[in-house]
Amino acid sequence: MEQNATPEIISHEEAPETGAARAAPKKVFVKTYGCQMNVYDSQRMADALAADGYRPTEAIEDADLVLLNTCHIREKAAEKVYSELGRIRRLKEERARNGRETVIGVAGCVAQAEGREILRRAPAVDLVIGPQTYHRLPSVVSRARGGEKIVETDYAIEDKFEHLPAPERKAVRSRGVTAFLTVQEGCDKFCTFCVVPYTRGSEVSRPVSQIVAEAERLAEAGVREVTLLGQNVNAWHGEGADGREWGLGELLFRLAEVPGIERLRYTTSHPRDMDDALIAAHRDLPKLMPYLHLPVQAGSDRILKAMNRRHTAKDYLRLIDRIRAARPDIAMSGDFIVGFPGETDADFEGTMRIVREVGYAQAFSFKYSPRPGTPGADMKDQVAEAVKNERLQRLQALLTEQQRSFAQSLVGTTIDLLLEKPGREAGQLVGRSPWLQPVIVDDGAGEIGDIVEVRIRQAGPNSLFADPVRSIDLGKARVATSKEEHV
Ligand code: SAH
Ligand code: SF4
Ligand code: F3S
Repeated sequence: MEQNATPEIISHEEAPETGAARAAPKKVFVKTYGCQMNVYDSQRMADALAADGYRPTEAIEDADLVLLNTCHIREKAAEKVYSELGRIRRLKEERARNGRETVIGVAGCVAQAEGREILRRAPAVDLVIGPQTYHRLPSVVSRARGGEKIVETDYAIEDKFEHLPAPERKAVRSRGVTAFLTVQEGCDKFCTFCVVPYTRGSEVSRPVSQIVAEAERLAEAGVREVTLLGQNVNAWHGEGADGREWGLGELLFRLAEVPGIERLRYTTSHPRDMDDALIAAHRDLPKLMPYLHLPVQAGSDRILKAMNRRHTAKDYLRLIDRIRAARPDIAMSGDFIVGFPGETDADFEGTMRIVREVGYAQAFSFKYSPRPGTPGADMKDQVAEAVKNERLQRLQALLTEQQRSFAQSLVGTTIDLLLEKPGREAGQLVGRSPWLQPVIVDDGAGEIGDIVEVRIRQAGPNSLFADPVRSIDLGKARVATSKEEHV
């Protein structure tokens, strides 16, 4: 099985009480595939629809509008959408027999890549809407309810940034104390395996004022940790408050000043865009968490070149040395592809070598999937499936071992934990370590939204278990101080 960064998220926000909502409470069910940017976009679509009277539901059979926010990154991800659409079509027919209308919409990267083809393959679909067009969703939906079949895939992304409504306080609250914030969208890198430059368009940065306003809004609604998103988030740039050109490093310093925001993260970065100011932010900004997702994809220079990554294995290792010099406790995360066309056993050993040299706390690894329209798909020497399977297994065994030993190394240490939500079992809370691991503590540890000091007792395969320092060092002032500092 592939290690996959793609949780399926069903939105469950409560819509604000608008007049329209009271008059005709329509329900929307959103299913999200793919990366965090799709999660963010799904929330914004829910926000836009809430203003139009739609309430989110988790029960698909109750939904007047079903939206699939899709991912095109690998063949499996894209094909999943069509099997889901088969199920939804049957649901639509069933509802129709009971006199209820259902509008089916496909959004996201499959929508952008395949457009009208989706209506041909899945005629029950009513609307297809690309990622740059979500600000038009309410009007598109109302046209679809009038019986029109709609494909909306070409608009300027700046329009989306400008016109999508800001998240409402109540909706933000219902989503918890951590939030995503898109600062950059699109990609100009054209790695030869990747569809993203085609589905998300060219790189566009949101202006500083918009980003700061959104971060303030999130903080006012109780958000403590913000993860800045972009396909190439560290390519973000814009005019700063001081009139100078800022990069992501300067933006992080500005966001650290927003009252209430205690933790900052960003993802995904490209090694070519890690500049000095961003590395300095890791050194000087305590609110910037010591965790960096910096995909390298492969360890052989020949393959890196064929992938058009535009750096060598040595460049990547040297960069990590610089980052670790600035922030010694930083934990690295990465993405890897095995079986890119032409990858020999020796090339693959290069990937294993770079993994051993870096030592990853977390990583995602995939079998190469040829994507129509990308240069990689037309390359000779496609690697046999059996070879890909074998390489993936070896790589994942190594990565899993590294992840396990990183978690193990934390046992006995004291860390700051942001309490996020109730645990699966009564009396538990779940939070995140600075290195993004889920940590389970007793619910006496504090309130959701608090950052508390805990001591790691045990490392499980997917989460850590910890005890509040307060109950261990009973009566010691230092816990109280640390709480006051943080909240
Ligand atoms: N913008 C990010 C990530 C893009 S997609 C970056 O620059 O790294 C997330 C991951 O999916 C990629 O890092 C890559 O490892 C994987 N991926 C992308 N295209 C793929 C393909 N055709 N086959 C297999 N994995 C792929
Ligand atoms: Fe895809 Fe490469 Fe762009 Fe990342 S940098 S989104 S892998 S083309
Ligand atoms: Fe998938 Fe599009 Fe994200 S292809 S990974 S949803 S940018």
